[in-house]
Amino acid sequence: MGSQVLWFLVLLTLTTICKSKSCHPNDLKGLQDFKAGIRSDISGRLSKWKNQDCCKWEGISCNEAGRVASIILPGLYTSDGAPVQSTMVGELSPSITLIDFLEVIDIGELGGLTGKIPTSIGLHLPHLRKLNFLGNQFTGALPESICKLSKLEEMYLQENVFSGFVPSCIGGVKNLRRVDVHSNKLSGVIPESITRLTNLESLCLQDNFLTGIIPENIGNLQELKELDLSKNSLTGIIPRSIVKLNSISILYLNANQLEGEIPPSKPGQLSSLSFIRLQNNRLNGIIPSSIGYLTSLQRLSLANNQLKGSIPSSLGNLKSLTELYLSNNQLSGQLPRSIGGLSELLLLSISHNMIEGPLPGEISSLSNLQSLDLSFNNLNMSTIPKWLMQLPSLSRIYLAGCEIQGEIPEYIAKSLLELDLSANHLSGRIPAWIGSLSRLYSLNLSKNKLVSEIPSTFTNLEILGALDLHSNKLEGSVDAVLQMKSKFVGGSLTYLDLSDNSFSSGVEQIGVGGQEHIQHLNLSHNFLKGRFPTSIETFKSLETLDLSHNGLGSYLPISLANVTALEKLMLHKNQFTGRIPEEFLKLKKLKELNLSDNLLEGKIPYGKPFLDFPQSSFSRNRGLCGKPLPPCKS
Ligand SMILES: *[C@@H]1O[C@H](CO)[C@@H](O)[C@H](O)[C@H]1NC(C)=O
Ligand SMILES: *[C@@H]1O[C@H](CO)[C@@H](O)[C@H](O)[C@H]1NC(C)=O
Ligand SMILES: *[C@@H]1O[C@H](CO)[C@@H](O)[C@H](O)[C@H]1NC(C)=O
Ligand SMILES: *[C@@H]1O[C@H](CO)[C@@H](O)[C@H](O)[C@H]1NC(C)=O
Ligand SMILES: *[C@@H]1O[C@H](CO)[C@@H](O)[C@H](O)[C@H]1NC(C)=O
Repeated sequence: MGSQVLWFLVLLTLTTICKSKSCHPNDLKGLQDFKAGIRSDISGRLSKWKNQDCCKWEGISCNEAGRVASIILPGLYTSDGAPVQSTMVGELSPSITLIDFLEVIDIGELGGLTGKIPTSIGLHLPHLRKLNFLGNQFTGALPESICKLSKLEEMYLQENVFSGFVPSCIGGVKNLRRVDVHSNKLSGVIPESITRLTNLESLCLQDNFLTGIIPENIGNLQELKELDLSKNSLTGIIPRSIVKLNSISILYLNANQLEGEIPPSKPGQLSSLSFIRLQNNRLNGIIPSSIGYLTSLQRLSLANNQLKGSIPSSLGNLKSLTELYLSNNQLSGQLPRSIGGLSELLLLSISHNMIEGPLPGEISSLSNLQSLDLSFNNLNMSTIPKWLMQLPSLSRIYLAGCEIQGEIPEYIAKSLLELDLSANHLSGRIPAWIGSLSRLYSLNLSKNKLVSEIPSTFTNLEILGALDLHSNKLEGSVDAVLQMKSKFVGGSLTYLDLSDNSFSSGVEQIGVGGQEHIQHLNLSHNFLKGRFPTSIETFKSLETLDLSHNGLGSYLPISLANVTALEKLMLHKNQFTGRIPEEFLKLKKLKELNLSDNLLEGKIPYGKPFLDFPQSSFSRNRGLCGKPLPPCKS
């Protein structure tokens, strides 16, 4: 009985061995070397690569001739219907080029793969259609030999550390449809030959160090739907041929050094163009009125350029427009009445131009408008138009520097998320109803003539993240702000500026109110008194602390040394006494310090970062000594 079972097992084993095919030795070697290069694979996919029949291995498939045609081991995949994110750490073996019938290599988003694209890839893998290395740590240049990959259609190399130039022969890879190399360290120019890739549908080279001009004949790319060259150092003009991109939907050229005019288009051209980003360049000239032909436009950003002239009224034709960014230019004239026709508009930003008033009443038909920034123009509004505040969806309002006078009117009390009325001539009190704007997360009333205390209702602003009330004539206690309740553990306030007012309370509530996420705290230029609260150390994220020009006194608390995120510490012009605690040497990130005009004495702590500060950081105290001041006496 026992021996029968044994024989059966032997037979079974023999048949399995005989049946199990072995792949082509090149493929086997290529894959085994690949596996050997990987030090860690949390998905466990490679540990199942055991027998010789590599066509059955997970992630591998073969062509009809039994040769390996694809390696598909992405970091993001689905297993049993559930999405899995996996990482692999290790170095890509150059033996990958042994697998000479490869059509697809997809090892994207594994996070931890290093190594280079083998220089001879184009000579050895002539069948390659898709190369996906996205989201790893690959280095080195894009080898010239990729130009020989005549079947290559898709190349995803983005979010790695590739450097060097885009090979000038790239135009030879005739079948390329998608190229994404964004967020690497590529330098040099965009080869003109790229304009010969007439099958190209998307070209993403953003976020590199590319220089030179945009190829003049870019308009040849008739299939191109997406072109992203943003965040490089491209110069020269936007080529006129760009208006011939018949299929283009996404055009991002922002954050370069482009100059010259925005090329005008003809009716019918760029008819699919939906998203344009040209902001952060040096474009000049006018906004061409032909922009009104681009009726598919949904988002248009021309901010931060040097555009002049008036906003063309043809803009009103852009019925699909949802976001319009024109801030920081030199636009003049009035806002065109046609703007009222942009019924889908959610956001309008024209700040920092020279737009004149009055505002066209047609704005009142923008029933979807959520965010409006008219700050710093020549609007001379004197009052906030009531009709403006009746826009049903408006919740983010920026009217800084609009020459608004009088008190803050109650008719603006609506469900606001952001309100900026800074740099106006507002007078009177801060109304208590502001404390009931429960969705408010940014309030800027700085640079006005507001008097009064901070209403106690401010403690109800549960999600307020930024509060700027600087340069007013506010008085009383700062406690209402420091005690703001928060919906979130640790508080939501990150930015607080109450400087340049007439507050006269103590600051004991700093750090006890539960607002621990504050990064920027400026209470300078007030009449604050009392001692420095030791509870400051709960402000673990504090980067800027300015309590200068007040009447604060007593010792500097050692606990301040525990606020190690601190970069700027301004305590000058107070009455602090005692020594500078040695423990302050723990403030390694400190870049600016001013302790001058106090009553401090003793030796200045010796070492970095204190050695970097000038004498004027310590001058006019009772008796400080040691570097950078004269040495202490014995
Ligand atoms: C702004 O408007 C006010 C009141 O309407 C007017 O008195 C003032 O002259 C205007 N200022 C400018 C610069 O136009
Ligand atoms: C508030 O407005 C002033 C003046 O317009 C500006 O300088 C400041 O940066 C704004 N504060 C915040 C937090 O944005
Ligand atoms: C704090 O506010 C004062 C007055 O508004 C300003 O001069 C100073 O630069 C601010 N401090 C910091 C560190 O930003
Ligand atoms: C600062 O933090 C350390 C540990 O991080 C703690 O031991 C010490 O008590 C704290 N110092 C002060 C003065 O609060
Ligand atoms: C420190 O503040 C004093 C005024 O109290 C000023 O004269 C000096 O220039 C400041 N120094 C630095 C380094 O900020």
